[in-house]
Amino acid sequence: MSTQDDLFHPVVELPEPVRQARYDRLVGLDDTKLRLRKEAALLAAPDRLRAWAERFHPGMDLPALRLLTDRAPLFVFAGDVGSGKSALAESFGCDLADMLDLPVFLYRLKLATRGNGLVGEMTSLIGEAFTHLRDVADRALSASGPTSVTVFVVDEADALVQSREARQMHHEDRAGVDAFLAGVDSLAGAGLPVLVVLCTNRVGALDPAIMRRSAATFTFTRPDDQQRHAILAAALDGLGVRTDTITKLVELTGPSGNQPGFTSSDLTQRLVPAALITAFPDRAVTDEHLLTLASELAPTPVFTEQP
Ligand SMILES: Nc1ncnc2c1ncn2[C@@H]1O[C@H](COP(=O)(O)OP(=O)(O)OP(=O)(O)O)[C@@H](O)[C@H]1O
Ligand SMILES: [Mg+2]
Repeated sequence: MSTQDDLFHPVVELPEPVRQARYDRLVGLDDTKLRLRKEAALLAAPDRLRAWAERFHPGMDLPALRLLTDRAPLFVFAGDVGSGKSALAESFGCDLADMLDLPVFLYRLKLATRGNGLVGEMTSLIGEAFTHLRDVADRALSASGPTSVTVFVVDEADALVQSREARQMHHEDRAGVDAFLAGVDSLAGAGLPVLVVLCTNRVGALDPAIMRRSAATFTFTRPDDQQRHAILAAALDGLGVRTDTITKLVELTGPSGNQPGFTSSDLTQRLVPAALITAFPDRAVTDEHLLTLASELAPTPVFTEQP
């Protein structure tokens, strides 16, 4: 039997300032954030949905409510590299906590938990993780509704939940998919304050059974001109960079010919840090220098599905 420390990274209680700031800094995801807030609130705290129904459709028995709350509390975050999947998965709990006025506990599956390939190991670890989460969520449910919400993030879930039909899939990986499906099913319609978020680059390779269960699938893409502008303006704030330089940087980091545009993380984790590191310790960051770096750096290649 594994302990909590074997299965999960240290649990984080949200809201928390660092993650709140990360959530606020995510650009171009306003629609995703809004939909996620509603979906998450209703799945984790179905009492809120009943209260809404009582207010706007009083005295009615609404089968539609049941349809909504019977779904598996599973969200899939899929799409391009460095587009904010992990950042959003680990920070939207701050927004949810505000909305529900409840603490949100963030559980992240440890990479090592995916097992070392021994048959049966993956299955039992995933099973144990879900059992643990159900216990936590059970304890968080009081007669008057949830007292906290648990968000379970399975990041880089590609191998774990790849299609069971994938030809080269090992027996053990298939067992991982089955264990995950069983875990998700055990939460569907249970009305427990727990949400599962699965992040992956490989939406095409995801097992159809997982896609079908997902209450909402969010697709993440590379930032467009306006979004790159917002990310760059925020990241370069205070460095005295001219407005027309930011406009040029937006152009230089956009798609051209066969080359894709920069990812959000290319901007925040490569371009801007490179500018600071080159200037440090003897010079200030200059506009010319930023423009040179932007034209020299190549964007991260687009993730292509393996055959
Ligand atoms: N939409 C965004 N707006 C602003 N910054 C972003 C956005 N997306 C990503 N970033 C920046 O890139 C960093 C990395 O993002 P994140 O780790 O969430 O990417 P990811 O989608 O999980 O990528 P991967 O598929 O490689 O795991 C973030 O911490 C943030 O600085
Ligand atoms: Mg990630």
